[in-house]
Amino acid sequence: MVSNSTFEVGIIGAGIMGEALIAATLRAGITASSIVIADKRTERLVELQKKYGCAAAEVNEITIQAKNILLVVKPQDMDSLLGSIGNSISKSQRVISFAAGKKTASIEEHLVEGVPVLRVMPNTPMSVGVGASAISKGSSATQADVKVVEDLLKASGKTIYVDEKLQDAVTATSGSGPAYFFRFVEAMILAAQELGLAEKDAKTLVIQTIAGASEMLKQDGASPKTLRENVTSPNGTTFAALEVFEKEDLVGIMKKAMLAARNRSQELS
Ligand SMILES: NC(=O)c1ccc[n+]([C@@H]2O[C@H](COP(=O)([O-])OP(=O)(O)OC[C@H]3O[C@@H](n4cnc5c(N)ncnc54)[C@H](OP(=O)(O)O)[C@@H]3O)[C@@H](O)[C@H]2O)c1
Repeated sequence: MVSNSTFEVGIIGAGIMGEALIAATLRAGITASSIVIADKRTERLVELQKKYGCAAAEVNEITIQAKNILLVVKPQDMDSLLGSIGNSISKSQRVISFAAGKKTASIEEHLVEGVPVLRVMPNTPMSVGVGASAISKGSSATQADVKVVEDLLKASGKTIYVDEKLQDAVTATSGSGPAYFFRFVEAMILAAQELGLAEKDAKTLVIQTIAGASEMLKQDGASPKTLRENVTSPNGTTFAALEVFEKEDLVGIMKKAMLAARNRSQELS
């Protein structure tokens, strides 16, 4: 089937990540009239159309009308989706999957030979413009296709290119990463309350501390080690806390946790 490519971007699956992608592509300079979305839930489409001004269509319309088809459904929904749309996508289009753990080869199986397939592992901070995404390409995609994806995501935060075999490691690092920090924040708030601070004050102090520390990481150009050492006087208060981290093997815990995430990602794919 020949694509008439009415839309620059077609997003299938307008959930949490789908919405983050609408916002990111708009910020990248794609006009709302060049974006079309599809989802099983009509009320969700109405909500997003109202919020962003983009068009909504049936999935099978997107597959013939969009130059770049962004697949943003859950990994377990991908096979049935691809089974129904695979044959209607032409080589002049691009398929870009955001599903965790879904290999480009397994997507290519559902498509006409030669359709460029790319895979992106994003994370949720994309919704506020500070995401971290890793892009990989399948067997028919070129560096030019990677560049198109980089351009689409240029306002979503940072992107890197990785060989596809590293995507499970990326998932364990930046994909799941925000949750590690949210857990860390929860733990600090709880500990501050146990030291006597009111919940509201604990939240204010912890969230501002994390935000300030991450701003310093971005702005100072210093390594995390140097920044840590700058607040750690020998035998001081920070030193006492970090001693506990060392004794409880924080680095070992992080390695184990990220290995578990990497292994789970491999299992899921
Ligand atoms: N959220 C994250 O932090 C994150 C991070 C990295 C990667 N991702 C990846 O992003 C993808 C989407 O995740 P999400 O959190 O945005 O999921 P989500 O909120 O559940 O959104 C997926 C949407 O797609 C819809 N859908 C499912 N099958 C469909 C079909 N055949 N046609 C049209 N719409 C369909 C779902 O509708 P129903 O609910 O009715 O099924 C749902 O509205 C996943 O593959 C995930 O691995 C997410």
